[in-house]
Amino acid sequence: MLVNCGQNRRSVLRAVYNRRSMSSNLPIQHGVSLRHLNTFGVDALAHSYLELSDWSMLPALRNDLLLRQLPRLVLGGGSNILLTADFPGLVLQMQLRGITVVRQDAEATIVRAAAGENWHDFVLWTLAQGYGGLENLSLIPGSVGAAPIQNIGAYGAEVEQCVESVRVFDFDSGEVVALTRAECAFAYRDSIFKHGMRERAVILDVSFALPRNWQPNTRYTELAQELESRAIATPSARQISDAVIAIRRRKLPDPAVIGNAGSFFKNPLIPAAQRDALLLQHPQLVSYVQPDGSYKLAAGWLIDQCGWKGRNLGAAGVYEKQALVLVNRGGATGAEIWRLAQAIQADVMVRFGVQLEAEPVLI
Ligand code: EPU
Repeated sequence: MLVNCGQNRRSVLRAVYNRRSMSSNLPIQHGVSLRHLNTFGVDALAHSYLELSDWSMLPALRNDLLLRQLPRLVLGGGSNILLTADFPGLVLQMQLRGITVVRQDAEATIVRAAAGENWHDFVLWTLAQGYGGLENLSLIPGSVGAAPIQNIGAYGAEVEQCVESVRVFDFDSGEVVALTRAECAFAYRDSIFKHGMRERAVILDVSFALPRNWQPNTRYTELAQELESRAIATPSARQISDAVIAIRRRKLPDPAVIGNAGSFFKNPLIPAAQRDALLLQHPQLVSYVQPDGSYKLAAGWLIDQCGWKGRNLGAAGVYEKQALVLVNRGGATGAEIWRLAQAIQADVMVRFGVQLEAEPVLI
């Protein structure tokens, strides 16, 4: 596979593609570097590349006999992806913009945001309008369109709690379809957009139901402690957002400074019997009981116990303040980061008998 970017590779790709006659009038480019379009800062090429600034480009794409056959990859903020090689198909760079208040009823304000809006800017916009609901999810990198795919979550909240519906362009039918929250099949860092709809749907916009009767959600211990340290007993949505931003800035690396994709692994879910056995061997084990009686383990703790925190393998490393975050120390390839991830998975398996699952989409 071609992994390192170079002028040669780019011109070869351009030449190959230009020989084929593309019938659509879409402004497709070839051999485009994705380095600035993924938060790991990994250098990989898109064989074909289209900036999706208008959703009517999608039917045109579907009607093009050649283009419709290419593998597709939609990139929003590129904050939940690891490019281990060049992408041998068409990258759609999501640039749809716009925020609209759709309606207001006794229960909620329905706000629709286009997929290409920056997530954190959108959260700040809702707070500036006086709409609470998304404040616990402040400062998560990425775009609005990516939020439902992995059901982003932090500090005691998951985006599914506020999703009213998600509109997608369905490549199978060629139609725009609205999926209800139930149809999105949300779960921990998971949704239908990682499974049944993965190949066929391009998310166009997301509608959020933001409660009129807003209540603060301060159940997450670290958030409660942060508010307490600020002597805030009855926080506003804005104050919760400020506290979350402060915690994240303290613990998580800023992708603009050091390449990363947030948590690299999901916190594993295991049966109660397995957790009880592990607890006997490791009394410090960090685990959280789930509504169905299973347990969620803190993957960061497992990795930390294996001695990986702060260590590097080549130019890929484990962040020194949070073992769940893998970082690009400078010039790492996606394959190098993936090798580090696999070494960690192997160690955690040997020591704890637990399989860690990667959170970002692997290409
Ligand atoms: N821990 C360690 N060592 C570490 C990291 C964590 O011992 O290096 C222990 C901590 O002491 C704590 C426990 O693990 O007891 C959990 O750590 P933390 O509260 O930091 O949360 P997390 O499980 O590591 C999850 C999400 C984050 C989210 C935070 C806060 C996942 C995979 N990650 O992290 O989400 O911000 O909770 O809610 O669920 C993301 O998905 O990209 C992400 C950053």
